[in-house]
Parts: sequence; structure tokens; C-alpha cells
Amino acid sequence: MHEFFDKLGAAAKRAAGNVANEVSVAAEKQKLSDAYKDLGKRYYKAVKIGETAALAAEALIRELHAEGFEDIRITSGYRSYEYQQILFNTYLGNEMKKHPDWTVEQCRAEVLTYSALPGESEHQTGLCMDLISTKNVVLDETFADNPAYAWLTENAHNFGFILRYPEGKEEYYGTDCTAGHFRYVGVDAAKYITENNLCLEEFLLLYDEDIIHVPGIN
Ligand code: DAL
Repeated sequence: MHEFFDKLGAAAKRAAGNVANEVSVAAEKQKLSDAYKDLGKRYYKAVKIGETAALAAEALIRELHAEGFEDIRITSGYRSYEYQQILFNTYLGNEMKKHPDWTVEQCRAEVLTYSALPGESEHQTGLCMDLISTKNVVLDETFADNPAYAWLTENAHNFGFILRYPEGKEEYYGTDCTAGHFRYVGVDAAKYITENNLCLEEFLLLYDEDIIHVPGIN
């Protein structure tokens, strides 16, 4: 186990590489076909998600609403490189206004605690979504106070989604936790990750090391 924890740095890099790889695959796919489904019309503003993940997201949201959590909406799904750049620059500008005595580097470091750089965001893969409540449209850890959050932590894996940045695992993924950010990994992996209280970085390391074998995944 000790050796496992020693290797977590490698796992985080592997996860980052994995995301970077997915980002370029997603970009290629987008060029070739209309691989993104528009869920925005039904669930909020303009939100697109990759085909397979979109089917799962739609089923998840329908179930959430049927359970009485009708205030839950998808606020962000697929983002292009350009849009992630705009977001990052907007956050940077906000931090510079908020902290006039900070250097640009300090402001940039602050933004990196909650936003990925363009080219490194999981949103560019089309495999994730951010959820918010119409009662609290802020995308941060306060989503965990919504009763839907408890339901999601118990049920999202049945739809193939994991909480991507769970609280207490920040050292593995390197940003602040975001309670509403869910990532599609498929039902088998999602079940394994959730039932064993792992985050994606830990799972990838165990998987790489051939320590775990999840049915349905090569
Ligand atoms: N908020 C997450 C880290 C992103 O920008 O991809």
C-alpha cells in the first residue's frame, strides 16, 4: 500500500495525460461528425455532451427529476479549446480585479485551483458535466448542500458517472473539489470507483499496475 501512495504523483500525471489524449481524440471526432448531443434545449442553456455520455446524462437527469430533485440542471458539458480559453481568461481578469496587489502569476495560480487550462480541461472531452441547482446557480462546493448531492453520490455510478473531484482527495487531482462536476467513465468503472471510494487518479494507477480487473473493461 505504501508503494501505491508513493506512485500517486505518477497517477496524477497519467490522468492528466489521459485527459490530454481524450481532448485530442474528442477534437478529431468533432471535426469528423456531429458527435455531440444537444441536451441544452431540455435541461438548461446551450449544453452539448459526447454521444454516449449524453445518453447516460439524460437518463441520470430524468431519474433525478423523477426522484423530486427537479431543480437540478446541467450547466456545462462539452467545451471547445477556444471557449475554455475565454473562461480561463475571464477568471484571470476577475482575480486581477479582486487582488490588485497580486502579480499575474499569483492570480493565474489562484485560477488554476478551480479551472483547467485550455487543452487540459476534461470538458473538452465531452465526457463530463457540471450540475447546479436553479436555487443556487453557483458552481462550487456548495452544491454538496443540495439534497440531490447525497442522491448522486449513491446513484450516479449506476448511470456510469463518478464525482470527479471528491472532497478529501485534492492532493491526487490537484485542484479544489467541485461538488457538481461528474465524469462519465461507464457503469463498470464507475461502480468500482464509487464502491471502493477511489478518485479517478487512484483508479487509473491500480488499473495500470494490473492490481484490479474490472469486468467490462479491457
Ligand atoms: N473546472 C474544471 C477543473 C475545468 O475547468 O475543467
